[in-house]
Amino acid sequence: MNQRLLVYVPPHPLIQHWLTVARDASTPSVLFRSAITELGRWLTYEASRDWLVTQETVVESPLSSCPGTVIDSQIPVAVVPILRAGLGLLEGAQTILPLAKIYHLGLQRNEETLEPSCYLNKLPEKLDPQTRVLITDPMLATGGSIMATMAELIQRGVNPAFTRIVCVVAAPPALQKLNAAYPELTIYSATIDGEINDKGFIIPGLGDAGDRIFGT
Ligand code: PRP
Repeated sequence: MNQRLLVYVPPHPLIQHWLTVARDASTPSVLFRSAITELGRWLTYEASRDWLVTQETVVESPLSSCPGTVIDSQIPVAVVPILRAGLGLLEGAQTILPLAKIYHLGLQRNEETLEPSCYLNKLPEKLDPQTRVLITDPMLATGGSIMATMAELIQRGVNPAFTRIVCVVAAPPALQKLNAAYPELTIYSATIDGEINDKGFIIPGLGDAGDRIFGT
């Protein structure tokens, strides 16, 4: 059987709560930012479950020796926030992954053509193929931005099977493109919405997440 993209929508009440706050058009920027931070935290927690690499060890408790499990510090962990809106999820992601390296990628979608262009790329030339990479971007709409991000990562040696995408709203066009190109990928999203309009906005979606996070 061919492998297929895994998309998890964790049924967690905090994720549902903060998604609903973020969707509400009357939510002011300061609260919208908090909602996205919280979603970044809880979705990263869920995404890290079968993704972080652990190591067996033995420690001395105050009373006896006992077996334990720790995070394997030899395996690099990286977060790639897609600017601007992906920065909103980064703060919460960092509370779960405090030692991760952060590689910023600035992409701007052209409002007419919906094609992304890159204005900032802080990725190193090469990444260890063992690196666990977590990409943050609240919206996967046409999929142009996430496909451009994946191409940059693959070119640097990243393994899609060790890559997780944390987003808030995912739409079918983006999921179809990712499934066709990178079926080994896994996505954690607060929800999947059914459509995008002719301006590339997800319906019902959240509006322009970058503008709402930064109050612009
Ligand atoms: C938005 C969003 C995604 C992208 C999704 O960013 O945050 O990065 O569009 O659309 P796509 O799947 O059709 O590529 P935008 O380019 O508006 O930049 P911003 O984050 O600076 O607002």
